Amino acid sequence: MSRMLYLKASPRGSRSHSVAVADAFVEQWKAVNPGAEVVVRNLFEMELPPFDGDRIMAKYNIMHGRGHSLDEKRAWTEVEAIIEDFKSFDRYVFAVPMWNFGVPYRLKQYFDILIQPGYTVGMNEKGYFGMLEDKKAFVAYSSGGVYGAGNPVETYDYQSTWMRMILGFIGITDVVSAEARGMLLDGRDARRSDAVVQAAELARGF
Ligand SMILES: Cc1cc2nc3c(=O)[nH]c(=O)nc-3n(C[C@H](O)[C@H](O)[C@H](O)COP(=O)(O)O)c2cc1C
Repeated sequence: MSRMLYLKASPRGSRSHSVAVADAFVEQWKAVNPGAEVVVRNLFEMELPPFDGDRIMAKYNIMHGRGHSLDEKRAWTEVEAIIEDFKSFDRYVFAVPMWNFGVPYRLKQYFDILIQPGYTVGMNEKGYFGMLEDKKAFVAYSSGGVYGAGNPVETYDYQSTWMRMILGFIGITDVVSAEARGMLLDGRDARRSDAVVQAAELARGF
């Protein structure tokens, strides 16, 4: 039986457009997968350790085949717990607003913790490879503006491009999405409704 982790990267609660779209996906998925477990977490409420001094040294020591000091060991235990928790799921849902053309800093921090050599990313003679297998993700995007192909600011979208890249980097390549764009522009309600409908459709075959 699949286990789903639903991560919200918006702190805006019931006002969040990305959460509304992701909620529609999760509700539909639950309807077609009765009994499946869904764990919901908001990245702005989760305890996330800063990825600082001891943790960076611990990471570099792993990369260079060295051991850990006592402080590094302690700091690394928290990192390992977050990675193991993430890896225990096989379905992921992300609600991701665009913030300054990228993703909110709490989501970036979460991936800084998750992406570790030997845990989620391996290295061989060809370079890096993602270590996660048989996982799927759905991402609900929202933004104030519109960034479609042919748009003059098309290249400013470092939100969906980064999410796709970073999920692929750890091995999650089966990724679908729905986008609530132009949430600060006229016509917002119709575009959000379209994204909600698309999310529910995608959930049926997920
Ligand atoms: C800190 C911050 C930065 C933002 N930066 C952008 C941006 O670069 N481009 C954009 O189109 N919208 C931007 N917005 C607008 C949000 O993407 C938009 O309001 C979206 O609906 C927020 O997602 P949410 O409703 O799920 O919280 C920004 C909003 C905030 C709070």
